[in-house]
Amino acid sequence: MEYTVMLPAAGSGRRMGAGENKLFLPLAGKPILARTLSVFQQDPDCAGIILAVRPDERDRIREMLADHGITKVTAMPDGGGERQDSVRACVRAFMDSGSADDAVVMVHDAARPFLSRRVIRELAETVREHGAAIAAVPSKDTVKQVADGVVEDTPDRSTVWLVQTPQAFRAGLLAEAEEKALSEGFLGTDESMLVERLGHPVRVVESTYDNLKMTTKVDLAIGEALLKRQEEME
Ligand code: CTP
Ligand code: MG
Repeated sequence: MEYTVMLPAAGSGRRMGAGENKLFLPLAGKPILARTLSVFQQDPDCAGIILAVRPDERDRIREMLADHGITKVTAMPDGGGERQDSVRACVRAFMDSGSADDAVVMVHDAARPFLSRRVIRELAETVREHGAAIAAVPSKDTVKQVADGVVEDTPDRSTVWLVQTPQAFRAGLLAEAEEKALSEGFLGTDESMLVERLGHPVRVVESTYDNLKMTTKVDLAIGEALLKRQEEME
């Protein structure tokens, strides 16, 4: 099932504390961004990649694409101040290129290099029928809602899922959700929230626990261990 992926890559990586965009950091010798791009480059169902970048990193990223044989990038819009702004820039680039409303698009954090092809496939199939589908895993921990250091509520753990990317949508639906959020000044932490606000149901596809977002130093250590395990299994 053909899809286009939108990768927000215009963050600063503040929590990683590397002094530069964390996506340039190597994971077992290959930059995080190049690893994520390679997954989509190698997936025959992926028709194109739209990459939101910081203007001052554009040249460096172009070089990375060439170095790693990434040929599917069709647009590199400027990212914005918030992740949602960067994703909206990708959505606009896609719609402005005359793409169909019912095309399948996925939004995926450039900082998650360990996504699985099985999950991508299931998301694309689910979107064809239902319009919106997100990758998530059941919470292993009990989740509490806390205010001022005091527990307010404990949702039943069997109903709690931890949400990741990719998040997949019919293009027209995502574009409508993004523009509505912008006009109402709503800032979400994922694309699903914006689509939920339209009243459109969002399906959940069970993903894998190793689809980690490289956020702090400990994630790099876990990432290296995951790659080592993969090598040993090959
Ligand atoms: N991102 C983006 N534009 C922004 C902020 C984030 O494109 N204004 C991207 C990041 O590059 C990353 C993804 O969104 O691929 C997920 O964001 P996150 O993990 O929070 O990365 P950063 O914002 O870079 O990190 P931090 O929040 O620690 O500064
Ligand atoms: Mg961030």
